[in-house]
Amino acid sequence: MFNKFIRSMLLATLLLAVSIPMLAYAQQPVLNVYSSRHYGTMEAPFVAFQEATGIEVRVSAGTPNDLLERLTAEVDQGGRSVADVFLAIDAGVLEMAAQRELLQPIQSDVLDANIPVELRDPEGYWYGLSKRIRTLVYNPANVTAEELASIQTYADLGTATWADRVCVRPASHTYTVALMSSLVFHLGEDDSLTAFTNLSNNVTRYITSDTSIITAVAAGECDVAFVNHYYLARLANGSNDDKAIYDAVRIHFMQQGEGQTGAFFNVNSAGVVVNAANYDNAVRFIEFMSQPEMQASNPEAFVGSNYEYPVNPEAELHPTLATWGEVKFDTVYPLWEYGNLQARTIELLDEAGFGFTEN
Ligand SMILES: [Fe+2]
Repeated sequence: MFNKFIRSMLLATLLLAVSIPMLAYAQQPVLNVYSSRHYGTMEAPFVAFQEATGIEVRVSAGTPNDLLERLTAEVDQGGRSVADVFLAIDAGVLEMAAQRELLQPIQSDVLDANIPVELRDPEGYWYGLSKRIRTLVYNPANVTAEELASIQTYADLGTATWADRVCVRPASHTYTVALMSSLVFHLGEDDSLTAFTNLSNNVTRYITSDTSIITAVAAGECDVAFVNHYYLARLANGSNDDKAIYDAVRIHFMQQGEGQTGAFFNVNSAGVVVNAANYDNAVRFIEFMSQPEMQASNPEAFVGSNYEYPVNPEAELHPTLATWGEVKFDTVYPLWEYGNLQARTIELLDEAGFGFTEN
């Protein structure tokens, strides 16, 4: 009788010991994100997701390629990564992750409704969540209207007009490689090599930060450059010193004419990692970022926190972006092709003598 009592007590204690951690586990849903966004590790939209869902977001930050290599190593070793979501600032990296079987396709009516087909992978491996244009910034004091009119395509900065007047980011950076891959796509390898050679001959300085590039253009150190649009919007909405830099330069969207392909852009995009431990939370995170509230232009929103263009057609543009007018985006070069051309683009840039470091 006594033994039976002891036994049942022991069993109850054991059950309690097992169920407490299980209960704690069930109450602590988490989501692990590998993020190459470099705008503060724990961003406002991630906090908004935590608050709305009770799911704790844990972020590991790094460059797109570093995170891609980390994912590859983890999945190769143990079949799964710590990461549930891979968030990258470049569609090419997401596409490479899909090709390396590091992501899994997802089917979501929410994502299909919120994100146009040209901004997501046809098989559902990744979804674009915001758009960033890489385009021309120029100094209006040093560039005439006629000179400006001569720049229609990205290759036009290679003409004699622009000798020693161009600042660019080195070819070691994703921003440059992705942009230049669009020339390879549109012009083919031979003409791209010529374009890269001509362009690199006109470069006066290679600079590794877009904000520093804009500052150099404002100071007259160079007259024209390629930058991501949101760096200009940041300056426009920054301190008085920032505003002074913004006022000294102008943005110019490329390839906007009739029959032209539109401005090169990239997407902040996200995919669910293969065998993700927190699969449901991962899908929910991507869906959350695609809804109108997170696509809005306020600083707490995914899109607004970095002055990007929304992918969800329901969302309004930030006032600064609205002042720049309508933009035609280059969707002729499909986002899912970005990954395929990166390696070859780097080889061609190298062959053309394009700089890979700051000078
Ligand atoms: Fe950036």
